[in-house]
Amino acid sequence: PVVPLSTIVSDAFDKRYGVPAINIVNDLTLEAVLAAAVEKSSPLIVQTSVKTVRSIGSDVLYAMWTAMTAGIEVPVTLHLDHCPEREVISECLARGWNSVLFDASKMPVEENMRQTVEVVAEARGYGAHVEGEIESITGVEDGVGSDTEAERQSLEVVLEFLRTTHVDVFAPAIGNAHGAYKQAPVLDFQRVSDIVAAYPLPIALHGGSGMSDEQFHELISRGCAKVNISTALKETYMKSNLAFLQSAAERGKWDPPSLFRAVRADVVEMAGSLMTLFGSAGKA
Ligand code: 13P
Ligand code: ZN
Ligand code: NA
Repeated sequence: PVVPLSTIVSDAFDKRYGVPAINIVNDLTLEAVLAAAVEKSSPLIVQTSVKTVRSIGSDVLYAMWTAMTAGIEVPVTLHLDHCPEREVISECLARGWNSVLFDASKMPVEENMRQTVEVVAEARGYGAHVEGEIESITGVEDGVGSDTEAERQSLEVVLEFLRTTHVDVFAPAIGNAHGAYKQAPVLDFQRVSDIVAAYPLPIALHGGSGMSDEQFHELISRGCAKVNISTALKETYMKSNLAFLQSAAERGKWDPPSLFRAVRADVVEMAGSLMTLFGSAGKA
């Protein structure tokens, strides 16, 4: 069934497994990640960037979501990823998204806190949940973000933000970055433990693409219950298309459904292996 974000991340947080939060880009990738969740008996968080919401339209995107999740037996939830724009937050909440990441990380913390309180109140009116962020995650994700690493806030400021806003999930900067890593990331595992020890709530791990299996395991064991993956899906999707089209050109065969089948299989495989790696497989 379609469930609230907290239903999925609370169980994962309590049992210390991670749930893939995968940014889909179209109907094919949405259907494929849902199929992987069913195949692996895994909960799943489906994310849409603001760019995807704009390119497909929230009405069409939400219609795809309801059609494709009708009767689904594993717990799934629809989340709006990094969104600095209040109008897009309101539009998606009204449409039926289960949760949003209000990304006011470019604002001064005080203003971020003030507006996050408003977003949480708005979301609660729909029974929806909110992820909060006060330090911008390095790297640009579908046009949102910046390339310079933001200063990390003190634990005191993080706790004040959590206590004041009552966000359901928190996304800290721990040396993680969006996109492919130029060199292996150096991650601050202890920061996750410090936050969780002082204020136990599920942590969202951003910038998942490019982290090692060991880094995932370490972070998930410390409380990262939501593991964001975007770049890896984009790469799988584009490379699979490229490989198929190159061979189609060589064979002179132009049959779209066989392209879709091949790409879908690769996306299902990629999503399924993340569920196995993060430990969400078999938890539905
Ligand atoms: P990657 O693109 O590095 O996988 O990061 C995903 C993410 O954090 C989406 O919010
Ligand atoms: Zn992110
Ligand atoms: Na990354």
